[in-house]
Amino acid sequence: MTIYVGTANPGFAPYAMEELRRRIQGTKVSGLAPGETFSFTSGDYDPEPLLTDLRRNEPIFLRHLFPVEAEYEVTGNPDNTADALKAYALTLEDRIKGSKIAIQVRKEHNSPFPFSSAEGRDVIVPIIEQLGGESVAREADWIISVYATKKKLFVGCSLPRDNLSDWPGGAVRFRKDEEVISRAAFKLLEAERAFNLPLDRFSNALDLGAAPGGWTSVLLDRGMKVTAVDPAEMDPSLEYHPKLRHIRSNAADVSFAPGSFDLLVCDMSWDPHHTRRIVSELAPALSAGASGIITLKLMYKKPLQSINDLMEDYSHEFDVRKVKQLFHNREEVTMWVKRK
Ligand SMILES: C[S@@+](CC[C@H](N)C(=O)[O-])C[C@H]1O[C@@H](n2cnc3c(N)ncnc32)[C@H](O)[C@@H]1O
Repeated sequence: MTIYVGTANPGFAPYAMEELRRRIQGTKVSGLAPGETFSFTSGDYDPEPLLTDLRRNEPIFLRHLFPVEAEYEVTGNPDNTADALKAYALTLEDRIKGSKIAIQVRKEHNSPFPFSSAEGRDVIVPIIEQLGGESVAREADWIISVYATKKKLFVGCSLPRDNLSDWPGGAVRFRKDEEVISRAAFKLLEAERAFNLPLDRFSNALDLGAAPGGWTSVLLDRGMKVTAVDPAEMDPSLEYHPKLRHIRSNAADVSFAPGSFDLLVCDMSWDPHHTRRIVSELAPALSAGASGIITLKLMYKKPLQSINDLMEDYSHEFDVRKVKQLFHNREEVTMWVKRK
C-alpha cells in the first residue's frame, strides 16, 4: 500500500478527502496542515491503476499529490536533515541518470524543518548532478517532492503527470509581469491549462459577468471577437477595442441569433443555480460543440452535492467535460462544458 500527500485549496481539504474516500475503497485519510494537506493510502488498489484513474477522471478538489517513498522525523537540525535528504536522493539513481529533475520543497508554517524551499533544493542538487541528472525548475522528467510537517518529513519521486500538477503543491504561478486588468484573469489562464483547451482556437466569444474585463482582455489578446455582458463598467483600457462589444445589461435580459458564438465564458458573481438557468437559456446562441468555461460559486453547505446537482442540470444542453477547483479559485470551482 502506498501513502500519498494530497493538497487542496485552503479550507477545501475535507472535500478532497471525501472525494477520495468515495473513490478509493479501503483508503485511510489523515489530516496534515488543517484544511489544506492530508495523507491518504492507495487502499485496496495498486498504485499504477489508481494514479491512472485519478489522472483520467480528476477529483474536483484534489489539487496535487505525491507518493511518499520515505519518511523521516523532523528534527530542526540542518546536518541531520541534509543527510536524510541526500540519503533519499541517492536511492534514486535509476530515475535520475540522464533525466531532468525538479525538486519541490514545501513546509508547514509550524514545521521546525531548518531549510527554505531554495535551501532544501540546494541540498539535493549536488546529488542529482553526481548521479548524472540535470536539475530543472520546469518541464522535468521526474519531480522529487519534499513536504515537512511539524513532526515528519515526507519525500517521494514521481512523474509530473501523476502529481496532477507539475507545480509545487499545485500552486500554479503566472509571471508577475503578466499584465492583467483583474486577478480574475488568472482563473481563465489556469483553466486554459487545466482543461488543455488552447483559447486561440476560438473566434467568437460571449463573456457573461465580464466586468472589469480580466477574462475579456485574455480573449481579445487571443484574437477573438468578444461580446461582454455586464451591467458594470469595463476597464477604460478596453473601451475602444475594435473587437469588443459591451452590452451593459443583466445577462438574463440578452438574446442572440442561434450559433453566434463558439465560446462562452461566465464568471458571474451570482447564485450558481441562477447562473445555470441563464447559461442554459443562452445555449442556442452557441454553435454545436462550442465550449463553455463557467465558474460555479460554492454558496451552499454541501459543495459536492451542489456540484453534482448543477452538473445534472447543465447536462441537458451540455456535455460536462471537467469540473476542477483551480488554484486561483476561491469559494468556487471552474467547469468546462461542450454544447451538445
Ligand atoms: C467576479 S466579477 C467578474 C470578473 C471578470 N471575469 C474579470 O475577469 O474581470 C463578477 C461580475 O459579474 C457581474 N454580474 C453579476 N450578476 C450578473 C448578471 N445577472 N448579469 C451580468 N453580470 C452579472 C458583476 O457585475 C461583476 O462584474
